[in-house]
Amino acid sequence: MYKIGIIQKIHDKGLKLLDENENFDYEIIDDVSEENLLKKIHLYDAVSLRVSKLSNNLLSKATKLKVISRHGVGYDNVDTSYLKQNNITLLITATANAIAVSEHVFYLMLSISKNFLNLDNEVRIGNFKTNINKFETFELHNKEILIAGFGRIGKNLIKKCLGFDMKVKVYDPFVDGNVISDMGGEKVDNFDEALKTLDFLSVHMPLNKETKDLINLNKMKTMKNTSIIINTARGGIVNEIDLNKALNEKIIFAAGLDVFSNEPINLDNPLLKNKRIIMTPHTAALTNECKIRMGNETAQNIIDFFEKKINKNMLVNL
Ligand SMILES: NC(=O)c1ccc[n+]([C@@H]2O[C@H](COP(=O)([O-])OP(=O)(O)OC[C@H]3O[C@@H](n4cnc5c(N)ncnc54)[C@H](O)[C@@H]3O)[C@@H](O)[C@H]2O)c1
Repeated sequence: MYKIGIIQKIHDKGLKLLDENENFDYEIIDDVSEENLLKKIHLYDAVSLRVSKLSNNLLSKATKLKVISRHGVGYDNVDTSYLKQNNITLLITATANAIAVSEHVFYLMLSISKNFLNLDNEVRIGNFKTNINKFETFELHNKEILIAGFGRIGKNLIKKCLGFDMKVKVYDPFVDGNVISDMGGEKVDNFDEALKTLDFLSVHMPLNKETKDLINLNKMKTMKNTSIIINTARGGIVNEIDLNKALNEKIIFAAGLDVFSNEPINLDNPLLKNKRIIMTPHTAALTNECKIRMGNETAQNIIDFFEKKINKNMLVNL
């Protein structure tokens, strides 16, 4: 019998897959503090992991652990070199997230372009005949978007952008230009040049040493003052202090953020007071449909691992 630690609950449909298999016994852990996990981590052959961090200190006590099954696709909450050294397999829910996240990008872009928060408020406070010049709106049609990172989410997003008649440029040094042009985008090799003309920048790359603070004040200064930054990837790719300054000084126009350097965001973070930002609490992938897909895939990945039939799409090459 394999013992599984479900670090933060997954969808019941995923749990049912484990319930139905006599080889697995699981425990759901809601308290994700290091202190609590230290008491339990040595018990598990596998863990399902959402966004909480598994430090190397914790992993060093996980003497039975053979596989981490991420509920999601990003894995900056574990040290991949530690996993490799210690022969711990890392699996992700690779086919679950792209639709929900790319829809969320549109939700953020449209909320900004249609001035949603202000206009909704005007209706509620009785200003039905509000002065629309006070609350400008604009179209996505013909606007230029730079998709930075053209993996699962970037490739899903481009279809929606083209449906809105946006002009799509793509920056991803690891993706062939033909793949991008076949999907209707234009590959750019020079990121800095592309920043100068875009209307929207949407980032979809992993957070790592190369991408941390990739979008900083110097970069924002080269962008048009009407530009909008959307970050549904990971906090830290867009430097938050620089973003706040760039918005306050009208260097760029607005931002839509689903992810933050510290999560949950600290209540004294100045971003919370910045009216030029629209924010969601890392919920881009938490649609009802996506929660089911992630729950199923997280559980199935664990089952497949122990039944020695790993789906290669789900495997992270460490
Ligand atoms: N907000 C959420 O709830 C949520 C949900 C899912 C994924 N994410 C995040 O979205 C991001 C993308 O996920 P994905 O599934 O599309 O990943 P993916 O691995 O399929 O694609 C990432 C792409 O980024 C490219 N890339 C890597 N380094 C780059 C760089 N320096 N410059 C440009 N491109 C670079 C890679 O070549 C790859 O094509 C990740 O950061 C992930 O953590 C967030």
